[in-house]
Amino acid sequence: MSELRFDNQVVVVTGAGGGLGKAYAHFFASRGASVVVNDLGGSHKGEGQSSKAADVVVDEIRAAGGKAVANYDSVENGEGIIETAIKNFGRIDVLLNNAGILRDISFKNMKDEDWDLINRVHTYGAYKCARAAWPHFRKQKYGRVINTASAAGLFGSFGQANYSAAKLGQVGFTETLAKEGAKYNIIANVIAPIAASRMTATVMPPDVLENLKPDWVVPLVAALVHSSNTTESGGIYEVGGGHVAKLRWERAKGALLKTDDSLTPGTIARKWNEVNDFSQPEYPTGPADFMAYLEDGLKMPSAPKGEEPDFKGRVALV
Ligand code: NAI
Repeated sequence: MSELRFDNQVVVVTGAGGGLGKAYAHFFASRGASVVVNDLGGSHKGEGQSSKAADVVVDEIRAAGGKAVANYDSVENGEGIIETAIKNFGRIDVLLNNAGILRDISFKNMKDEDWDLINRVHTYGAYKCARAAWPHFRKQKYGRVINTASAAGLFGSFGQANYSAAKLGQVGFTETLAKEGAKYNIIANVIAPIAASRMTATVMPPDVLENLKPDWVVPLVAALVHSSNTTESGGIYEVGGGHVAKLRWERAKGALLKTDDSLTPGTIARKWNEVNDFSQPEYPTGPADFMAYLEDGLKMPSAPKGEEPDFKGRVALV
């Protein structure tokens, strides 16, 4: 079986000085890509900076016969990072928005600084890099993006309100990039990884970390950003330790209520079972799915005055 190759492609990996980013950089270089190894080189809390983290990875890739160049910008300077790709390699094909930090603290004690820094790195940083890559992707009618969410963003996590907000933001961001990029063969997906890195070193026991090598996240990312993937876009994937699974939104059957004076808190309370009824789930992929309900509802005749409207069966219409 032939391996997936990335010859003649340029891959930008943010936060590639360690952890997952380093594993991506090594992999793509080993499969023929020219890699921009971006890393600010600060602490996992976002303090300080150093060129060392990126330089070490670039040296390792070159020593192994690969092509790589370092960039030390913060992801907040996305233009500078993409410029490094264009100046050195003449193009950009793949953007892996991976850089990240933590500022864990209980919500009670959270300061604006904790909130802002997390959002600047994760939300603004991913935006700036994608925004700078976008015109190139559109012009060449080719682009592949991976954004990095987290289980903390999907489900919430104690002490991580800032990080959770930023990480779920990556999901909406990706879903929109996938929609806007479709016409230009730009594919965007988002992963919620789990891997041993300095980020997880203190929160998981060593024997668990042993089975969570960053290398086990790389293959999914590589498959999604390969040119052979022309259809899987806007997906959310959990990946780590050998497990890969797609996630999606699920909508309950729901209650469709008449929009007049009968729509009171009491009406909602009486319909609570329907609001929460997942026995006939739907898997919406866009706002239009929801609007279809409303248009349908508007067509329904009014219930006779004073009677509890009976909407049985109506919400089953899709
Ligand atoms: P890591 O701390 O080993 O790597 C992150 C890299 O990003 C570091 O080398 C750091 O210097 C760099 N970085 C931080 N801020 C930067 C900035 N402003 N500009 C450029 N580079 C910057 O962490 P890990 O685990 O490899 O994390 C990679 C991504 O995966 C992050 O986005 C993280 O939030 C996410 N993630 C990781 C999980 C895990 O289990 N390791 C779980 C869920 C999400």
